[in-house]
Amino acid sequence: MSIHYIRERPAHQEIFDLLVQSGLFANVTATLTPSIVGHAFDGSNLVTSARSQDGRLLGLCRALTDFSRHCFVATLAVHPSAKQQGIGKALLHFTHSQAGDPSKIVVFLHSSPDAVGFYEHIGLVREANCFSINNVS
Ligand SMILES: CC(C)(COP(=O)(O)OP(=O)(O)OC[C@H]1O[C@@H](n2cnc3c(N)ncnc32)[C@H](O)[C@@H]1OP(=O)(O)O)[C@@H](O)C(=O)NCCC(=O)NCCS
Repeated sequence: MSIHYIRERPAHQEIFDLLVQSGLFANVTATLTPSIVGHAFDGSNLVTSARSQDGRLLGLCRALTDFSRHCFVATLAVHPSAKQQGIGKALLHFTHSQAGDPSKIVVFLHSSPDAVGFYEHIGLVREANCFSINNVS
């Protein structure tokens, strides 16, 4: 399957559908709507996607970057029909490349519990000194 990696801003509903189908919202779907999720994408300055040759949305990545030193990846998800084909890894690397010179930009992300093995497998470094303020229920 030929996959295209691009920078784009899909419609809110298309974003929401992909993220729900990916399983990312397994425990929080009830509190999230296409509008809330869409606004999170609107407020992110680097959004990338993976699409099939016939235009189907297969993967999404949402990041905030200064295009100079740091890139914070907030969302990465792949459609269930397209998992385990290298798309998640390729989309993360594509996002890194779009954030500037990859040799100068540090990528940070907070992993969901299910994705820890994925990030370890593709070679990301586990940091011991990340902190958060998280009052979200
Ligand atoms: C996590 C996710 C993005 C991975 O995407 P993917 O396209 O299926 O992953 P890839 O095919 O690029 O995997 C790359 C490698 O990691 C491995 N891998 C994939 N998921 C893995 C996991 N959960 N644990 C360990 N290894 C994993 C693959 O086997 C592959 O190995 P290989 O290069 O030796 O063949 C995808 O499973 C997903 O959308 N999950 C639900 C949403 C989610 O949790 N997102 C992360 C939020 S932080």
